[in-house]
Amino acid sequence: MSSKMECKPGKIAVVGVGNLGSATAYTLLLKGLAAEIILIDISEKKAEGECMDLCHAVPFSCETQIRVGKCEDCAGCAIVIVAGGENEKPGQSRMDLVSENAKIMQDVIPKIARSSPEAILLIATNPVDVMTSLAQKLSGFPAQRVIGSGTLLDSARFKCNLGKYFKISSKDVNAFVVGEHGDSQVPVWSLASIAGMRLSDYCEQSGTNYDKAALHKIYEQTRDASSKIIECKGSTAYSTAAGLAQIVSAILKDEGVLLPVSTVGDYYGVKNISMSVPVKVGCNGAQHVVKLPLQDEEMKAVQKSAEIIKSVCKQAGC
Ligand code: 2OP
Repeated sequence: MSSKMECKPGKIAVVGVGNLGSATAYTLLLKGLAAEIILIDISEKKAEGECMDLCHAVPFSCETQIRVGKCEDCAGCAIVIVAGGENEKPGQSRMDLVSENAKIMQDVIPKIARSSPEAILLIATNPVDVMTSLAQKLSGFPAQRVIGSGTLLDSARFKCNLGKYFKISSKDVNAFVVGEHGDSQVPVWSLASIAGMRLSDYCEQSGTNYDKAALHKIYEQTRDASSKIIECKGSTAYSTAAGLAQIVSAILKDEGVLLPVSTVGDYYGVKNISMSVPVKVGCNGAQHVVKLPLQDEEMKAVQKSAEIIKSVCKQAGC
C-alpha cells in the first residue's frame, strides 16, 4: 500500500442514522472531529430529527456544521461512514443479514463513489467484512480507502474483559481479536500482553490465577457480547460509534495507529477477502497490513474464519 497523500479537512458523511449512525455522529461531534457532518438516511424525517437534536448539542460541544443530505451531497467528504442497514434480531448472526444489507450497499455505494471519488469509505454495516469487500468492489476504490470497522470492537471487548479479570485498566491490556467480526473471530492469546509481559507471566507477578477455563470464558463473553446486548436493548451502538470515531481520528490526524480493522487483501492463503488484522491507519487510509506471527492453532482458526468470510462473500457477489 502506497503512502503519502494530502490530509483533507473534516467533512464527514454518515449514511444511515439509526442507533449506530446517530451515536457515531454524536461521538464525532463531542470529540470535535468534523468541521461538517452530513446526515443521510432513507427517512429524511429521521435524519431531520437527528440533525436538530445534534445541532442543539453544538453549544455544549465543538463548533460543527450539521446538515441533512443525500449520497449525492458527499462531494468533498474526507470520510463517508456507512452505518445503515438491518441489525441482527435475537438469535440471528451477522451473516444472516447479508442479502438484505448487500442491497443497501448496491444502492448507496455507487452514488457515494460518484459524488466523492477521493473519500475514504468507513463501513460498519454488517456482516462488516463482506460489506467492506462489496463496497470496495462497487466503488472501485483502492483497498486502502475502504475500511471496515472489523474486529476493532471485538478487540475492545476483549481488552475490557481482560482488564476486569486482571483488575487493571483495559488500556493497559495489549490484545487483538482478528478474523471475522462475527462468530468465527479469533483472539490472539499468544501475543496478548500486559506491561510487555505475556499474560501467564503477568499472572505470576500479580498473584492472579492463570485459569484457562476463566480465560476461555472471557473469549466466549467477547464473542457473544453483541448477542447479549441485542437481547437486552435491541442493538449495540456506543461502542461501535466510539471505535468508528477512533478510526476517523486516525485518518484525519494521520496517527499511524495500529487498529484491527477489515480491509480487502489476501489473508493466510485465502485470496481477495476483507477481514481484520492489525492495520496501520493514517491520512490515506489503511497504510500497512501487519502479518502476525500466529501459533499453529491460531493460524488454523484464522484460516477457517477467512474461509467462512469467503463463502459468504461469494453469496453476496463480491
Ligand atoms: C456489534 O458487534 C452488532 O456488530 C455489532 O456490536
